[in-house]
Amino acid sequence: MRVKENDIPRIMEIAKEAITPTWTHGMILEAIDRSDTYFITLSKNKDGEYTNAQGAAYIVGFSALRQVGEDGEILQIAVDNDFRKNGYGSEMMENMIAYAYNNSFKSLFLEVRKSNTSAIHLYKKYGFAIQRTRKNYYTEPIEDAYVMVCNLNTGENK
Ligand SMILES: CC(C)(COP(=O)(O)OP(=O)(O)OC[C@H]1O[C@@H](n2cnc3c(N)ncnc32)[C@H](O)[C@@H]1OP(=O)(O)O)[C@@H](O)C(=O)NCCC(=O)NCCS
Repeated sequence: MRVKENDIPRIMEIAKEAITPTWTHGMILEAIDRSDTYFITLSKNKDGEYTNAQGAAYIVGFSALRQVGEDGEILQIAVDNDFRKNGYGSEMMENMIAYAYNNSFKSLFLEVRKSNTSAIHLYKKYGFAIQRTRKNYYTEPIEDAYVMVCNLNTGENK
């Protein structure tokens, strides 16, 4: 589901423990407002199991994809720590890849911390390969990034 402004507190809650440096209120609002950004949440509501106190479906993760020319950059993907390894990260990746195909993106790319084995595993599962390293790309703590790319093979035969 596309992110709405009243999802921001829950997104910040997930981002706080999932992402360093975290996503601020302003960054989330900008991602919502930009027409080049596909920004979604994943909510689960299995027999009331994952509902919040008001009985509404509970947001367990979010992801954002931005169009950059003919390609797409995965800006972020995060799942609440308590809900990981249930296939939710994969579900959001599949949603973003489908969006990329529907919009004829030629490739998807992203940066990921070298030490982030769970995210690297997820990206490799969907055909991303490490293209190069960006030295000291991240802060808090300083760390190299891998640039990973997934060629979508769209457009060549048109
Ligand atoms: C990366 C992340 C989104 C994955 O979400 P998830 O819901 O746990 O992902 P899934 O359950 O769909 O798992 C996807 C694959 O990764 C594997 N995986 C997940 N966590 C793993 C871990 N810690 N170590 C090794 N493999 C792992 C799963 O086994 C699965 O592989 P499989 O389908 O071959 O069995 C989640 O760990 C997260 O939010 N991390 C913090 C935020 C982050 O680092 N985002 C990326 C920023 S670039």
